[in-house]
Amino acid sequence: MTDLLNVRHLTTRFQTPDGLVHAVNGISFQIYPGETIGIVGESGSGKTMAMMSILRLLPGTAKAISTGEVWFESRDLLKLSEAQMRQIRGSSLAVVFQNSLSALNPVLRIEKQLTEAMTRHLGLTATAAQKRALELLDAVGIPDAKNRIRHYPHQFSGGMRQRVAIAMGIACNPKLLIADEPTTALDVTIQAQIVDLIKHLKAEMGMAALWITHDLALLAGFADRIFVMYAGQIVEQAPLRQLYYEPRHPYTIGLLQSLPRLDADQPQRLQAIEGFPPDLMHYPQGCPFAARCPYVIDRCHHEDPILESVGDDHTVACWVKPSYN
Ligand SMILES: Nc1ncnc2c1ncn2[C@@H]1O[C@H](COP(=O)(O)OP(=O)(O)O)[C@@H](O)[C@H]1O
Ligand SMILES: [Mg+2]
Repeated sequence: MTDLLNVRHLTTRFQTPDGLVHAVNGISFQIYPGETIGIVGESGSGKTMAMMSILRLLPGTAKAISTGEVWFESRDLLKLSEAQMRQIRGSSLAVVFQNSLSALNPVLRIEKQLTEAMTRHLGLTATAAQKRALELLDAVGIPDAKNRIRHYPHQFSGGMRQRVAIAMGIACNPKLLIADEPTTALDVTIQAQIVDLIKHLKAEMGMAALWITHDLALLAGFADRIFVMYAGQIVEQAPLRQLYYEPRHPYTIGLLQSLPRLDADQPQRLQAIEGFPPDLMHYPQGCPFAARCPYVIDRCHHEDPILESVGDDHTVACWVKPSYN
């Protein structure tokens, strides 16, 4: 199958007054049409910077430099002009941020924001765009859409506003939706509703999704494949079940041990991973997880492991590759 997105050796560095930040360190992966990918990792592991690099939305003030290749629909996004990039974002490549308030224009009614995108990218007439805007709000579960469409962003609750942002994201039938912690600020019930909504929309529209989260449990029964990020690298990559049942990277094992197990028959003590991720301004020599790793061997302190195959579509960057269980 032809991939939809093919990221090759993507690296992003920031120049700051205090030094160079190694935010994204040579990540490579593919996403196929209709697939849902989960990217998981602790806060500060480079998830947002990786996504912003792909979308070419790195903050201009940060003096960021990305190298590598980001192939999407036969074009390398890193080589496109800003105008070409704007055309792709908001049409075939859509994004939903953690805080949609920043993505929505506070002084425009949501009707205007939704219809503008569709008249611009899909060439719809004003009437057709208005009809579809109502359908979209219905589809994302906003009650009384006919009325609500006249409202401004601040008149919606956090959960409803995330739904509006998702409606905006999917308005132009994207092939890929990138969502960066879209439910993190919301309570658990609304989180579950939004996960269901994305699942439903994905099945209906055949859209692929890249879902970024720090919460591995959230991805269960939802993602097709999972990428685990640590210190700006992908350290393990596997289909969902494989990753949950046969993880081979000590960091993934640590993440799983810090989750409550529903099938446990007695009270469990959850183990948090000790220590902290490395300071990306002082990138360590060797494996970036070595300082926290219970399986560490001498080699880990000198040589950074590369991703190696350990099974069908399962790769791990670790010299030890311990088995879990
Ligand atoms: N504007 C910036 N300037 C310099 N460094 C930054 C900037 N934004 C993020 N970083 C650094 O990049 C690293 C990765 O951050 P981020 O991608 O936001 O992590 P995550 O999304 O996984 O929590 C962090 O170490 C952070 O300090
Ligand atoms: Mg983030």
